[in-house]
Amino acid sequence: MAKAIVIAVDGPGGAGKGELTRRLAARFGFALLDSGAIYRVLAYAVRKAGLALFDEDSVVQEALVVNMSFEPQDNGVHVLLNGEDVTAAIRTEEAGANASKVAALPAVRQALLQRQRDFRKEPGLVADGRDMGTVVFPDAQVKIFLDASAEVRAKRRELQLKAQGKVADYDLILQEIKERDERDRTRATAPLKAAADALILDSTALTIEEVEEKALAFIHEKLGTLELNG
Ligand code: C5P
Repeated sequence: MAKAIVIAVDGPGGAGKGELTRRLAARFGFALLDSGAIYRVLAYAVRKAGLALFDEDSVVQEALVVNMSFEPQDNGVHVLLNGEDVTAAIRTEEAGANASKVAALPAVRQALLQRQRDFRKEPGLVADGRDMGTVVFPDAQVKIFLDASAEVRAKRRELQLKAQGKVADYDLILQEIKERDERDRTRATAPLKAAADALILDSTALTIEEVEEKALAFIHEKLGTLELNG
């Protein structure tokens, strides 16, 4: 039997993957995997346990036992760690930077592979991350690499934080984005890069509606309209 459809959306932080994948999953009635949230929760759990983010053996142990769950609610997916709601706590800039540190450890990535693959089920999955199309689901039927300039991503993040009533310093955000990009793109295991068969979509000058339109055209080209209702 053919495997359930996977639409893999990879790219750097702030390119708009979260919004695009939420829209696609809702449109097609597919499950959604936010793989970045898995690395974020793991880093949070590691810190909470008083372990070092770079101690590969300890982080792997934590990755194998950590009890995380993702619960769709009206206002988005809630992330639970041992039953505690950590949705907001894992979204800080620091939590993102910590996630990228544990994500650079090869054995940690290996330990989290099956947990991510378990999200694949009928009728399909939209997977958001850095290595969805290259490592986790190399046989994904649709692969999209969503990019945007670091400056535009920093600006979007600044506006997002300000909309939440938080303090936001554009220059600092830009610097952090560049540091995280560098770590994600140059790591030895599963570096951030487009799969050979991915559609490369640059969202720098596009609205989310335009991004969605281009993604949909590509999805229909790959899958035809027969299998999808969207
Ligand atoms: O996408 P998000 O910003 O939530 O991801 C946080 C960090 O987790 C990224 O900077 C990256 O280092 C790591 N990550 C990863 N592989 C994924 C998803 C996220 O290495 N598939």
